[in-house]
Amino acid sequence: MELFDVYPINNITITKAKGSYVWDDKGEQYLDLYGGHAVISIGHTHPHWVQRIEEQLKKIAFYSNSIKIPLQEELATKLGKISGKEDYQLFLCNSGAEANENALKLASFHTGRKKIIAFSKAFHGRTSLAVSATDNKNYIAPVNETDNVIFLPFNDEEALEDYFEENGKEIAAVIIEGIQGVGGINVAEDSFLSKIRALCDEYGAVYIADSVQCGFGRSGKFFSHDFAGVNADIYTMAKGMGNGFPVAGLIIAPHIKPKHFQLGTTFGGNHLACAAALAVLEVLEEEKLMGNAVMMGKYLKDELQEIPHLKNIRGRGLMIGMDVPEELIDLRKNLLWNQKIFTGEAKPNVIRLLPSLALRKRDAEQFIDAVKEEINNLVITPAS
Ligand SMILES: Cc1ncc(COP(=O)(O)O)c(C=O)c1O
Repeated sequence: MELFDVYPINNITITKAKGSYVWDDKGEQYLDLYGGHAVISIGHTHPHWVQRIEEQLKKIAFYSNSIKIPLQEELATKLGKISGKEDYQLFLCNSGAEANENALKLASFHTGRKKIIAFSKAFHGRTSLAVSATDNKNYIAPVNETDNVIFLPFNDEEALEDYFEENGKEIAAVIIEGIQGVGGINVAEDSFLSKIRALCDEYGAVYIADSVQCGFGRSGKFFSHDFAGVNADIYTMAKGMGNGFPVAGLIIAPHIKPKHFQLGTTFGGNHLACAAALAVLEVLEEEKLMGNAVMMGKYLKDELQEIPHLKNIRGRGLMIGMDVPEELIDLRKNLLWNQKIFTGEAKPNVIRLLPSLALRKRDAEQFIDAVKEEINNLVITPAS
């Protein structure tokens, strides 16, 4: 049997990982500023994370949600404390798309309405409603086409206000990434998020903060929406939540009440997943990694801004994007093959940095030196 070929892949086999580094099967070391797509939050194979999962595995890995799982309560308490949303309720699932799918569904149950507002360049996942709210026609199968999702321009307060004025009573939810990831690292303006909060309050719609990529401390605050000083009604989380162990969830404001069987999951919130997520929160706190994300993010942005060829350096914490001009289009590829540094991308010309929040200064310096060297090489000897 062959693999279903849905991704272009690099011909590299990673067999070992530690902190911000990975090694291939030939022993070659790479600096990982991609974090396996923003997933590695506390560093690869962090010893506390390994130990907590290992110990849990020896006790019990899984049982269904038909019994009490105190680890879920422990996780809810810890999450409430660290995020400052102690009065919210936690629902656990397995992936970012699933978290958004449940959030959108819950908003519809709660309001009895069908319309969802999403924004240009949004990415919310591949499942049916999440993909319908994703602004990329290539990902939307005919069966997922719906009039229930309306796309408005990102960061355009006037367009949002106008739409609410005309259709406010039909809107179940507004879903927005605090910092768009796949869309190319576009930061939602604080005033735009405040406007969403105000309009959702006025018209009784649910504000869903997709924090799958920009959440769990990556921006330097627990949720990037916190920069705007607003509380969303639902926050969705995945990626960094498990540091590579598949775990996701939504936290739900107290005014949205649960009803038996409206939401459900077989694997969500299993013992191992909870142990992994708890380990991540413990390390985030113990090693003050959100503070480190702020410091390292500032260092990287300041240094990148000094490089004249790179444009529009943006982002928050350790979620950074930059535009690469046409003549340097090979920069990302050369960083990988010449400098052994993984970075992320967003089409057509954005380099995305999504490293572990435990990135050290010397790793960041290594990256900056490598970028300068590769830009020099490309400018002096442009590709033929
Ligand atoms: C903002 C955002 N939401 C949702 C998703 C979907 O997450 P998953 O791939 O875990 O389903 C992603 C994945 O890249 C994402 O970046």
